[in-house]
Amino acid sequence: MARKKISIVGAGNVGATAAHWAASKELGDIVLIDIVEGLPQGKGLDLMEASPVEGYDCNIVGANDYVAAANSDIFIIPAGVARKPGMSRDDLININTKIVADCAKKAAECSPNAVLIIVSNPLDAMCYVALKASGFPPNRVVGMSGILDSSRFKTFIAMELGCSVKDVSTFVLGGHGDDMVPLPSYTTAGGIPIRQLLPEEKIQAMVQRARSGGAEIVNLLKTGSAFYAPSASAVQMAEAILKDKKRILPCAAYLQGEYGYSGVFTSVPVMLGANGVEKIFEVELNEDEKALFAKSVQSVRNLIAVTGM
Ligand code: LAC
Repeated sequence: MARKKISIVGAGNVGATAAHWAASKELGDIVLIDIVEGLPQGKGLDLMEASPVEGYDCNIVGANDYVAAANSDIFIIPAGVARKPGMSRDDLININTKIVADCAKKAAECSPNAVLIIVSNPLDAMCYVALKASGFPPNRVVGMSGILDSSRFKTFIAMELGCSVKDVSTFVLGGHGDDMVPLPSYTTAGGIPIRQLLPEEKIQAMVQRARSGGAEIVNLLKTGSAFYAPSASAVQMAEAILKDKKRILPCAAYLQGEYGYSGVFTSVPVMLGANGVEKIFEVELNEDEKALFAKSVQSVRNLIAVTGM
């Protein structure tokens, strides 16, 4: 069986670290693309030269064009500008719209059967840009947001309970922005509802910390945004698709009537398999959760309008 091919557009912190996780999981051959001459080639070669130490058999090449990326199974696209302290994800929209549209179009031309995993911000609007620019069906354009946001929420819960991160289960709904909707009502540790384990006040503090989790890292780093957790999340999605694992994960998916919304990307629980987003799960929400979700979806719609796509 031929190896799978994963192309990653953007060889900055997120892209290069995604290549690192993907190689260490031996998910397939990797093409790292960037417009900066030498950057993807250098990082690609460096990762390749780590393979005898780590023992992964993957070809990893860097390129400034899409020739080597032909017939990729997956494109991970973190290309674009990252936040600096004081900026919101939304401040990036004009510049990243142009970059993501160009990347998605070229990815679709060289790899007509690929699944695109979008990581650039503002995430949900960039998924919409990629959908339009690629001409792909909605099941093959999916955004990395909910896994990252849920992972942050899970981290804080595990820290608070002093329990294994493996035992915490949750998901976050809505746009990858300040009004995302972490859901304590769907959060458990070892199957036990979180509200039986922690007081509401502590839970709400963690909800808020998860919402501003990206900004917390930006403020610490000062020169860019988070990359370990975002890239790990994107690679979890790639693995689910490449291995047809049918994982149920929160991802930004294109809604066509689900939850009463259409024509918008937002994070919802989906099944990820060989065909990309194979199913969107509609969960029951109480009135408060519905209102928060509606607000978050409206924020995404406002951003999509700014893209002009
Ligand atoms: C974050 C950025 C990558 O949440 O959106 O860290």
